[in-house]
Amino acid sequence: ERGLRVADKGFLNTAVIESSITYIDGDNGVLRYRYVRVYVTVATHPEAYRRGYPIEQLAARSSFLEVSYLLIYGALPSGSQLSHFTSEVLLHGPIHSDAEGFFRSFRYDAHPMAMLTSAFSYLGSYYGEANPSLQGQDLFTKAAKGDATALQNMDRQIFRMIGKATTLAAMAYRIRQGRDFVVPPTGMSYTESFLYQLDHLSPTDQLSGLQSYKPHPVLAKALDILFILHADHEMNASSTTVLQTGSSLPDPFSAVAAGCASLYGPLHGGANEAVIRMLLSIGSPKNVPAFLEAVKKREKVLSGFGHRVYKTSDPRSFIIRKVADEVFAVTGRDPLLDTAMALHDAALKDEYFVSRKLAPNVDFWSGLIYRAMGFPMDFFPVLFVVPRVVGWVAHWRQMMLSPSGVKIWRPRQVYVGPSTRDYVPLEERK
Ligand code: SDX
Repeated sequence: ERGLRVADKGFLNTAVIESSITYIDGDNGVLRYRYVRVYVTVATHPEAYRRGYPIEQLAARSSFLEVSYLLIYGALPSGSQLSHFTSEVLLHGPIHSDAEGFFRSFRYDAHPMAMLTSAFSYLGSYYGEANPSLQGQDLFTKAAKGDATALQNMDRQIFRMIGKATTLAAMAYRIRQGRDFVVPPTGMSYTESFLYQLDHLSPTDQLSGLQSYKPHPVLAKALDILFILHADHEMNASSTTVLQTGSSLPDPFSAVAAGCASLYGPLHGGANEAVIRMLLSIGSPKNVPAFLEAVKKREKVLSGFGHRVYKTSDPRSFIIRKVADEVFAVTGRDPLLDTAMALHDAALKDEYFVSRKLAPNVDFWSGLIYRAMGFPMDFFPVLFVVPRVVGWVAHWRQMMLSPSGVKIWRPRQVYVGPSTRDYVPLEERK
């Protein structure tokens, strides 16, 4: 078989695309969005510079929708570009009331990630013009050639996926409480609109005496920063899934549904839920040493630690740790933080973890913030999906517009099964 070999288990060291969307330096704990490879020929610096917007600056000074524009179109927007993008995304927030029936078809206690995965695929059934099998492949070849109508169509799909991500997430949240759905409000930011849809009192709610809900500005800002941090992360498992699926040219909603399914797993986006379950099972700081011993015996997993690429630290975890203190100042300190801090400090000093270059990742602290905000545990991965839709659609658009066209992703394998065998009739089998 032409010398095929398994390059590496789990794509350990395989580059599947060239991209300029996100730059990660795993050895130095660097994350930048929309980097530009600049060859500097100054004598003392011949190497290629990878300039981009450091995640620390974007988290401190930008907004989620501004970063979304940057990731998708490659540059920070002007004022008019940002207001157009914002109004288009918010305009596409509402969903046809048919979708209410779709959500009501789930058991009330279905996992919200299962609902969301199905809901993205359901959305794909709406927008025929997104579906090349109805339109033929020329939809994307035209867009790649710069055809204005095809590009506008592609943008409209992107506005829909980002705008409806919060609406679908809010519907998955409210169906489980038996509460009416909330039409996305106007006059709010993307994140405030999301928080409003989650907890706004419908007329039925008011009858049940629930208190009125206003998104707290500190919590809305904290969620916006968390959305910026989760927006993209180059070729993680879910983004790779979106591109693998997208490479056969289904509608983009179906590709995003596939990415959502990948993010559901506890090794990926489900880790923030797994961290809280882990901390609750540890119970208190005094049980941390015994827990870490169980991890070393591979009886337990230290969720929220380790990363395929970051081998020193995940820069996002430092930013999230600070956001946690700001949130706790509003919501009150979660006693689970004591166990989290004890676990964090003990693992970072333990040779077993140090020798394996295991450090806290983006999920170690985020679950504590979502818990302080009052979200149910199994809703935490949904809060990862909403911002990651932006990274998925940015990579999808980059692939669809690649000048060399879209090539279906079809890796090979190394066959290790039995050699040729003859068929044995049933009556002769033992
Ligand atoms: C995200 O890819 C991305 O960018 C993902 C993400 C994004 O933004 O999209 O950053 C988001 O998914 C973060 C990761 C969330 N997952 C978790 O926190 C789950 C716990 N982490 C592990 O499952 C693990 O660290 C992974 C899955 C994240 C990475 O797995 P790898 O790359 O296969 O781990 P590895 O091969 O580098 O492990 C090296 C060693 C192994 O030990 P040995 O077999 O060599 O003795 O470290 C061990 C692993 O067993 N190890 C762990 C561990 N993670 C790795 N041991 C205990 N606890 C852990 N968490």
